[in-house]
Amino acid sequence: MAAIEMKNIVKRYGDGFPAVNDVSIDVADGEFVILVGPSGCGKSTLLRMIVGLEDITEGEMVIGGKVVNDLAPRERNLAMVFQNYALYPHLSVYENIAFPLRLAKADDKTVDEKVREASRTLELDEHLERKPGNLSGGQRQRVAMGRAIVRDADAFLFDEPLSNLDAKLRGQMRSEISRLQKKLGITTVYVTHDQTEAMTLGDRVAVLKRGLLQQLATPRELYGNPGNLFVAGFIGSPPMNFLPATVTGTSVELPFGTVEISPEKAERAADKGLLIAGIRPEAFEDASVVDPSRKGSTFRATVDVVEWLGNEAYAYIPFEAPPEVREQLEQLERDLDGEALRTQLVVGLDGSSTIAEGDEAEIWVDTSKMHLFDPATGENLTVDRANAGEISQAATGRPAD
Ligand SMILES: Nc1ncnc2c1ncn2[C@@H]1O[C@H](COP(=O)(O)OP(=O)(O)O)[C@@H](O)[C@H]1O
Ligand SMILES: [Mg+2]
Repeated sequence: MAAIEMKNIVKRYGDGFPAVNDVSIDVADGEFVILVGPSGCGKSTLLRMIVGLEDITEGEMVIGGKVVNDLAPRERNLAMVFQNYALYPHLSVYENIAFPLRLAKADDKTVDEKVREASRTLELDEHLERKPGNLSGGQRQRVAMGRAIVRDADAFLFDEPLSNLDAKLRGQMRSEISRLQKKLGITTVYVTHDQTEAMTLGDRVAVLKRGLLQQLATPRELYGNPGNLFVAGFIGSPPMNFLPATVTGTSVELPFGTVEISPEKAERAADKGLLIAGIRPEAFEDASVVDPSRKGSTFRATVDVVEWLGNEAYAYIPFEAPPEVREQLEQLERDLDGEALRTQLVVGLDGSSTIAEGDEAEIWVDTSKMHLFDPATGENLTVDRANAGEISQAATGRPAD
């Protein structure tokens, strides 16, 4: 096993456009790191440069303490784990796992030892004589991993291995991969465009946008302390609400009324003019079900629609955003390849709430969970840097400290 250090990696394809632009990511020995971002942000290119399938334009790729820029893929001792269909249908599970060893001309005794050891770890013992076509999706994925294990690879690399599966199977496979990675303790880099996959699988997650690293942090850090609007909008489902906000002293004027924030937060957002407030749906609550001792602010607003899901509910409250905010959110929408500009607030409510459509409801909000973004740069002005992992300078639009 080995650590992987990506140092100021740049990839320019023929037309000179940097598909990967000065990206530095350290993956510790045994760590599980996810590369996530919308389609075209450079995830696969970066992964292919780790494996050696793509030349590195600038920067250094260091694996196990050794610069590998000029090493061929087979000299790097890494295992790319492909989707199910990369298994040979006419070979047994045993021979599928043994395949890399046969290629390397290992003797039968070595093959047998290694295959049986991998099969024990992967709980495939009773399936060794079966053909891949007769296995479940999870079992097939384990066979694919078995192939990587027998090679004693220094690291596993996955490129969107679950993207072709239906939602239920994807969920099962996700937990399978997570369990196996922990059990094997092998350094892993995993590419996905799916933020749920990123959040549930990774020790740390690297969020990329157009070839630029935005933030490298644990799932909790990303969720609680996104460094900029892009990360805030990308991570979380249902997504964070974005609202126009003006800060005066410790008061924040939102479309629905004025709420109070802490002096520390207020200071960081002072004299900045019109800002974008980011508040996740679950930071809100029906004021009538909140313990009065809980700190927060309340406002009254007319609820347009309520979706009741039993354990929780979502209330939708329309609002208007001024052009400066709309513009930034439209840009964000293009960057995210998805929805960001919403003209309704999504408020999470406890399932016991009786707020109904058309009500003028009293809504409570935990303003300690509110972020304030600079609309010009997208920077999160109120981020708690001690709990945000690494926020890339390129992501904040600020010059290096
Ligand atoms: N072989 C190639 N030649 C030219 N441009 C490429 C090539 N492969 C990828 N790109 C471009 O590089 C960027 C990143 O692509 P890719 O790494 O595949 O993104 P992702 O995996 O995040 O969807 C895209 O703009 C893509 O069009
Ligand atoms: Mg890709």
